Amino acid sequence: MKTAFSSLVGIDFPIIMAPMFLVSNQKMVEAAMDNGIIGTFPTLNFREEGELESVLEALKNKAKEGKSSGSYGVNLIVQKSNPYYKKHLDLCVKQEVPFYITSLGNPKEVIEKAHSYGAKVFCDVTNIEHAQKVYDLGCDGFIAVGAGAGGHAGPNALQVLVPTLKSHFPDKPVIAAGGIASGAGLASVLALGATGASVGTRFIASQEAGVNQAYKDAVVDAKMDDIVMTTKISGTPCTIINTPYAKKIGYRQNAVERFLSKNKTTKKYFKMWVQYLGMKKLESSVMPANYKTLWCAGQSVELIDGVKSVADIVADFKSETDEALVNLTSYSNR
Ligand SMILES: Cc1cc2nc3c(=O)[nH]c(=O)nc-3n(C[C@H](O)[C@H](O)[C@H](O)COP(=O)(O)O)c2cc1C
Repeated sequence: MKTAFSSLVGIDFPIIMAPMFLVSNQKMVEAAMDNGIIGTFPTLNFREEGELESVLEALKNKAKEGKSSGSYGVNLIVQKSNPYYKKHLDLCVKQEVPFYITSLGNPKEVIEKAHSYGAKVFCDVTNIEHAQKVYDLGCDGFIAVGAGAGGHAGPNALQVLVPTLKSHFPDKPVIAAGGIASGAGLASVLALGATGASVGTRFIASQEAGVNQAYKDAVVDAKMDDIVMTTKISGTPCTIINTPYAKKIGYRQNAVERFLSKNKTTKKYFKMWVQYLGMKKLESSVMPANYKTLWCAGQSVELIDGVKSVADIVADFKSETDEALVNLTSYSNR
């Protein structure tokens, strides 16, 4: 299935394997490339010295071989509180990463540097105000992050956000993200005017994901009502499975924490601290045998029926999309 997006980034099927903190790994991205989609990962998943560069080099070489029908890209958190941002951006530029997704903050520098060698930059947006800012900076497209998405979900339904972005910015491709775990989901966002979908939660329950079995099982077992939002992890609302530990620590920052994250002098450092602690909590949850579990996932857990290989997940997406498009022409039977 070709769309403007799949042609733009040179892939067979218009799905982005979404970047997922602590979940995305090299194996998943390579499997994405082998199966005709674009695999992405947050650069923050590779924080050890030399790690990110060697992963980027391996992916660049794989792409150069020309055997895969997919592609790869990175996610950069462009917020001031990300201490790795500059270093990671320089490494990505050096390794000529072909595709970037930026989230939180101002992507100006990423757009300029990526465009200097022809790479594309899509920016996470949850509303028109932020979309206008990244549009003015010259982004190549939007990732419309809707309600119910895994991670930092937006407040708006995709059925509203996608067509609104299209009507404000008709020249920019829109990728829909949030709650898409089936071909019918993909077909529905194409109908709204999106040029593809970004899929995260479905790929947590993949054989290639390196997270522990308990996390994958929780994604398969959880229902949509088990997903709650918390500001405890990063200060920004984030979706997690409502585990006993999540219930115990609560979902909102307390008054002092909220004050420190808004105050001009403490804001940057306090946010860094909250994100560091949240990262440590998430990190220990993806390791085996930990009762303090904080598992990030979106509402599409409801639709996930088992742990599968990336190849099978993509194959399901393809056959279900065909089926959904046929079903659409026989809606009078419903
Ligand atoms: C476990 C997890 C970690 C995530 N980490 C990031 C991240 O580091 N950066 C980012 O831009 N988005 C992150 N996201 C959001 C995804 O990139 C994507 O927008 C989202 O998963 C799409 O919604 P879905 O999970 O319903 O498919 C994360 C999502 C999940 C589930």
